[in-house]
Amino acid sequence: MQLLVAHPADASDPRAPLTPAVAKVWIARGVAVSVERGVGERAGCSAGAWEIAGCDVVDHGDADAWRRADLVLCVADPPGASVRSMKRGAVLAGMLGSTVHGDLVRACVEAGVTALDLAFIPRTSRAQAMDVLSSQANLGGYKAALLAADHLPKLMPMMITAAGTLRPSKVFVLGAGVAGLQAIATAKRLGAQVEAFDVRAATKEQVQSLGARFVELDLGDDASTAGGYAKELTDEQKAKQAELMHKHMVAADAVIATAAVFGKAPPLLIPQATVDAMQPGSVIVDLAASPAHGRGNCEATRPGEVFTTDQGVTIVGTLNLPATLPVHATQAFAGNTDALLKELVTQAVEAKEAKDDRPAVEAAPAKLNLDLTDDIQAAAVIVHDGAVRNELVKQTHG
Ligand code: NAI
Repeated sequence: MQLLVAHPADASDPRAPLTPAVAKVWIARGVAVSVERGVGERAGCSAGAWEIAGCDVVDHGDADAWRRADLVLCVADPPGASVRSMKRGAVLAGMLGSTVHGDLVRACVEAGVTALDLAFIPRTSRAQAMDVLSSQANLGGYKAALLAADHLPKLMPMMITAAGTLRPSKVFVLGAGVAGLQAIATAKRLGAQVEAFDVRAATKEQVQSLGARFVELDLGDDASTAGGYAKELTDEQKAKQAELMHKHMVAADAVIATAAVFGKAPPLLIPQATVDAMQPGSVIVDLAASPAHGRGNCEATRPGEVFTTDQGVTIVGTLNLPATLPVHATQAFAGNTDALLKELVTQAVEAKEAKDDRPAVEAAPAKLNLDLTDDIQAAAVIVHDGAVRNELVKQTHG
């Protein structure tokens, strides 16, 4: 079985979906691993390290390597042209962004490639080890708190000095999922006073267990789905939420916005009027910044940019924060991929001669073992056998 570790379309993403150490384990299990030159280089995975692990380093975009591969692993969506050179029945796995990248979905359908979008791995206990969304969001939340601290013209912690007492910064975290909870924990460790809000009632205890204050806003029903994600609020509920949160955001030195509704545009929760009412020097870190939607949770966010408004509020719309911590992002991603490979790949068996009472064992090569009756694979496989099989992806791209 041939595995290719490839660059995503945005080759500036420094993360790799596997490490040489994990690759070495799979090579010992009978999988041949090729790696496109430069993958993970800035995450501590040099060409030499891949080669020492037993991988074959190939050129970036080498069509033959894509053609030979039974399984291609990418951190994010790969170039459509490379996907088109894959053989029919081969599997592509990564954070494919399949609700955004319609061209990639079409390329998989036309090439007969099975696409496994890791963002659709269900949030269940058995799937936890494969949950790339969580492993990466955790790092993003940590970095968001550091960016808030870095852009603030103030300290995060209280300091009692001979020159007087310096008050701690107030941080408001909007959305207490994986990223939000890590942002809360990190801002608390830095000594800030932290408040948070989420539409899912279950988050209240989690926020409080981190020592932060949960802001109570009555929006009607608890907005959780059976899968544990947030439901999209009605326009009326969103407007009510923005109004109720206005005073908390205006009182904050930093707002870290992480609110998301899976597969939908980020909810617009920080209108321009709130940005304009914030104190000069305040900071908004918008983890929900989305180039596809031209904003994030904040109306003023410019995805991919950091800028300061005329009133002196700095808005951080930096994208892909996990990629700013490539070493640990890669290590965590590789841990998730290793768990996925254990589900997808049957390892090679060595031949054994019959001995005493034991029968002979025939040699068998490592092979892909796609099983669409398995709940995890059934959820994550979004294209198979020339057809889109995921409802959300179908709805998005028609
Ligand atoms: P996410 O990235 O989809 O959303 C971030 C947060 O924004 C969520 O907590 C969501 O409730 C919140 N949000 C949405 N609309 C909002 C609004 N209008 N105002 C305020 N907040 C809003 O979420 P994430 O971090 O991917 O986690 C989603 C769920 O999955 C959580 O319940 C989490 O505990 C659960 N989970 C379960 C796992 C497992 O069982 N293996 C692993 C990881 C997460």
